[in-house]
Amino acid sequence: MITFDEKNQVFHLKNDRYSYCFQIERGKYLLHRYFGRPLHEFRGSAERPALDRSFSPQPGAYENERTFSLDVVPQELSTNGHGDFRIPSLEVVLEDGTTVIELGYEGYEVKKGKPALEGLPALYAKDDEAETLEVTLADTKGRMKAILSYTVFAGDGVLTRSVRFVNTGKEAIRLENASSLSLDFPDHDFDRLSLYGGHAAERSLERIRLMRGVQVTGSTRGASSHQQSPFLALARPETGELSGDVYGFSFIYSGSFRMATEVEQFGTTRVVIGLNPDDFAWTLKPSESFQTPEVVLAYAHDGLNGMSQAFHKAYRNHLLRGKYQHSVRPILVNNWEATYFDFDDEKLDNLAACAADLGIELMVLDDGWFGHRSDDNSSLGDWKVNREKLKGGLEGVAESTHKRGLKFGLWFEPEMISVDSDLYRAHPDWPLHVSDYPTSFGRHQLVLDLSRKDVQDYIVKSVSDILASGAIDYVKWDFNRHLTEAFSEGRAPEHQRETKHRFILGLYSVLERITQSFPDVLFESCSGGGGRFDAAMLYYMPQTWTSDDTDAICRLSIQTGTSYAFPPITMGAHVSVTPNHQVGRMTPMQTRAFAAMMGCYGYEMDITRMSDAEKQQVKEHIALYKRLRPTIQLGTYTRLLTPFAGTKNETAWMFTSEDEKEVALFYFKALSEPATPIRRLRLAGLDPDAQYKVVEYYPAQSLAHDSDGAGSSKLVGQVFYGDELMQEGINIEKISSDFTAYLWVLEKVE
Ligand code: DGJ
Repeated sequence: MITFDEKNQVFHLKNDRYSYCFQIERGKYLLHRYFGRPLHEFRGSAERPALDRSFSPQPGAYENERTFSLDVVPQELSTNGHGDFRIPSLEVVLEDGTTVIELGYEGYEVKKGKPALEGLPALYAKDDEAETLEVTLADTKGRMKAILSYTVFAGDGVLTRSVRFVNTGKEAIRLENASSLSLDFPDHDFDRLSLYGGHAAERSLERIRLMRGVQVTGSTRGASSHQQSPFLALARPETGELSGDVYGFSFIYSGSFRMATEVEQFGTTRVVIGLNPDDFAWTLKPSESFQTPEVVLAYAHDGLNGMSQAFHKAYRNHLLRGKYQHSVRPILVNNWEATYFDFDDEKLDNLAACAADLGIELMVLDDGWFGHRSDDNSSLGDWKVNREKLKGGLEGVAESTHKRGLKFGLWFEPEMISVDSDLYRAHPDWPLHVSDYPTSFGRHQLVLDLSRKDVQDYIVKSVSDILASGAIDYVKWDFNRHLTEAFSEGRAPEHQRETKHRFILGLYSVLERITQSFPDVLFESCSGGGGRFDAAMLYYMPQTWTSDDTDAICRLSIQTGTSYAFPPITMGAHVSVTPNHQVGRMTPMQTRAFAAMMGCYGYEMDITRMSDAEKQQVKEHIALYKRLRPTIQLGTYTRLLTPFAGTKNETAWMFTSEDEKEVALFYFKALSEPATPIRRLRLAGLDPDAQYKVVEYYPAQSLAHDSDGAGSSKLVGQVFYGDELMQEGINIEKISSDFTAYLWVLEKVE
């Protein structure tokens, strides 16, 4: 998978999905040469034109070689100071205040498998699943080394890249930008894809033309954020969901990040991804090292689905961990939208009894069970049960829930502290704060300083004490505000700007300790919905609450957007009541169910208040989901129509089981239209030579529960070749109500 061509000094990283090549030039510079479809061999057919570029300076040793400048060569690690004026991936300040060092090639090593990254989540692999190349660059004055790590995964369309910086000199070095990836493309004929949003509106796809100059997506919030996701793709303009070249980038990090692109004067494109330099500085003392988080690169020539499927496969096999990595997730009911803070033992037991009757497998007790919390003003940090609400304590609720045959789950928000809490009264210095100015509030709460070991230990102990009872089967780990005044009492001034990154490292340490100590507990991460839906959190917690917006129609775009980088098995998706609590929309129960069936399914509503007819419908949905669950959660997901394209009115997804024998095809239409347009739905990824039988069909339901689009039911029982289903497709027939959803189940005929 990794070869080094001595003669041409070319590293070739290759599997059956891509080749990635770079070259040592003049024994010193690491120049990027190729990334794309696999090549037999890289021999340099497109030699870089040797042009004399005005205002592109020569490095000192090459004064007379006016065609050589770092400003115009594609580089694997970019620094400033020697004439490369594009965005750098490394910026340092030396003790004398200067900002120039000079890194050159020193050596390389190829390792089987993939070494872990100290203190950071990352993809992992067994020795026979991957190979890792470590290339060392060293400063010509001995001040610093940079070890670039690349891992090629056998048979996966992904490659990872990170860097370790080591201070090899005698003086401290201040890192002001320590990015993980620098990658140069020879042209800029790309669209730039990113995922933007806000609270309860996460991850809509933005696809715009890659522009000249610098474009940045990122976060300075101390969280990977609702606002921008740590995902970027560069796709050829003609690339669609099922065809065309695309390069995807996903950053395994939960804090402030930056994804920058620059189209420079000669039309080439640089991509730099890493910790957000606006929010970071790190002082490296002699012999200390700094490990950057990892970027996952995905290349696909078969469109955006190809890219997403490469991420999905890699994340399912090399990122998620533990008991639930490859097992289907329980169907849950969460009491948040059912009761908010207003619950007691009796209400919870009624919820559990009803849930058990419907076929639900897990009941989650959300916010408000601890301290004296009856609204969001108090008690965060005091992880002791509120016996006024829960007379039998947590053990009581857990026991009654278990008796009903359900698992029991509990909500925590361990990184936070309320001023009205025993914890704050005992440790007023524990929140992030500065001494001279008032601390900012978010949802009336402050953020604990997780960069401190004593705070980390407190969180581990207080959560572990509760989980140690063995009564908790699931944890929802929430995080409901962003970091402000992010400084740490007592930290030396030159280390204060490390605080936000140290906070994230502290969080990872806490999560590692807790999740490893309780391997049977299913953890779900959350941040006011999907405000920290990132690959790093998934390393510790294999699913994430996708959004606080539970409206089915909003969820179509939130979940479709999320699917560009993350597999359905990582997305919490629940049915909620109508009118919906966030947007007030009325949608048919089936539409809500089918939208939620895309991910880890559940209910977020007072199921005890449903009519008998609704309960019957819910039972059927739950039974249907249980049958389709292995296909949905463990199979392959393909986007057919997205709410970001065309009329933005339709969404269609299909799931193919691991053994490729079952297909579940979902179609949604938001608003119905007069003069019903004909919609041809073409499937994808089937075996063209195999035959498929339509075994089930669920026509749309309107709010009055009338069946719609019934014409398509004539397909049930018919058998078609895969080629016809993919080329000719099936028709969606007349739709005469809003917010409709359809499902077909197909089986491969042996
Ligand atoms: C935000 C979460 O996203 C909600 O699901 C709920 O847990 C609330 N926090 C509770 O405060």
